Amino acid sequence: MKKNIVLLPGDGIGPEVTRAAATVLRECGQEFTHQFEIHEYLIGGAAIDTTGTPLPNETLDACRKADAVFLGAVGGAKWDSLPVGKRPESGLLALRQGLGLYVNVRPVKVWEPLRGISPLKPERLGDLDLEIVRELAGGMYFGERGNSTEQGRERSWDTESYSTPEIERIATFAFSRAEARSRRLCSVDKANVLASSQLWRRTVSAMGTVYPYVKLEHMYVDNAAMQLTLRPTQFDVILSTNMFGDILSDAAAALVGSIGLIPSASFGTSASLFEPIHGSAPSLVGTDSANPIGSVLSATMMLRDAFGLSLEAEWVEQSLLRVLGAGYRTADIAQPGVRAVGGSVFTETLREEMLRTLEHAERYGWGV
Ligand code: IPM
Ligand code: MG
Repeated sequence: MKKNIVLLPGDGIGPEVTRAAATVLRECGQEFTHQFEIHEYLIGGAAIDTTGTPLPNETLDACRKADAVFLGAVGGAKWDSLPVGKRPESGLLALRQGLGLYVNVRPVKVWEPLRGISPLKPERLGDLDLEIVRELAGGMYFGERGNSTEQGRERSWDTESYSTPEIERIATFAFSRAEARSRRLCSVDKANVLASSQLWRRTVSAMGTVYPYVKLEHMYVDNAAMQLTLRPTQFDVILSTNMFGDILSDAAAALVGSIGLIPSASFGTSASLFEPIHGSAPSLVGTDSANPIGSVLSATMMLRDAFGLSLEAEWVEQSLLRVLGAGYRTADIAQPGVRAVGGSVFTETLREEMLRTLEHAERYGWGV
């Protein structure tokens, strides 16, 4: 298989975690004789510093032509004083928009060897395994915004707005995702206050009749935040808006112990984008302590969801499970008294384990 992959390392720990994803993809290409052509482009603060803009045309063009795009992270203190629209983050938003990405999937599940790092009691954590389907192309992120000054008083606003087709297309994705899992869909909104949420709820409800086998439930976002902590296993697929999905996915990530573990995939009208959900973590830069797992799992989502290579994706995931089973931990997931390894050692250990898995495929019951 021949694929053209664009890497956008970005800022902060972005380059480190992108290296981990690239290692996994290269190894996969080599061992399974796929021709993965990998090229790097600028985005975010790194792009602002070099070209003056957070999403250079050259980057967007390359992404549009790619089969899949991987992004590390964007943002950092250096660019914090820039206005909204000129910051590194706006490069990512413009990329999502430029690629027509309206679906963002964020799977959150317990990895057995990491059960102990959850802040929840074991009986509450259970076998947590959920997916957040976040609308990615609309809502407050892309609504009308502005600033004004009246009588010396400043005012700023951002608007949340959704149209029926925007809700229908993301809900269609969420319903089919739920159909393929345990057929439970929880749509999260704030329909007791927001007009846009009322339309959201009406539209999703109406679509429920098209998917009679999916058990649809609606929940207000404040309650959903609480329920995630109290009884997270009640959820299977959670559907929400751009803004609520952003917030709930960080909250859900905390349940399994670290945001560094969570991958994401975004789909739309052109190339798909894969990125860990964590930020650029400027305080970790130069310490080699960033957790590469969210990034590696984003690469496995690329293999599975963009290229249809499920066997290869499973190979990486099983190897990762064994590396964790052998006790390797980065600092964010190390329990007290357990020595953490750097992100680069972790990635190298994973790479070696991937090779071992292939050598002993039969013994490990993998791919045979
Ligand atoms: C995420 C991030 C981004 C978002 C930022 C970096 C713009 O928080 O992917 O969750 O808000 O979408
Ligand atoms: Mg976020």
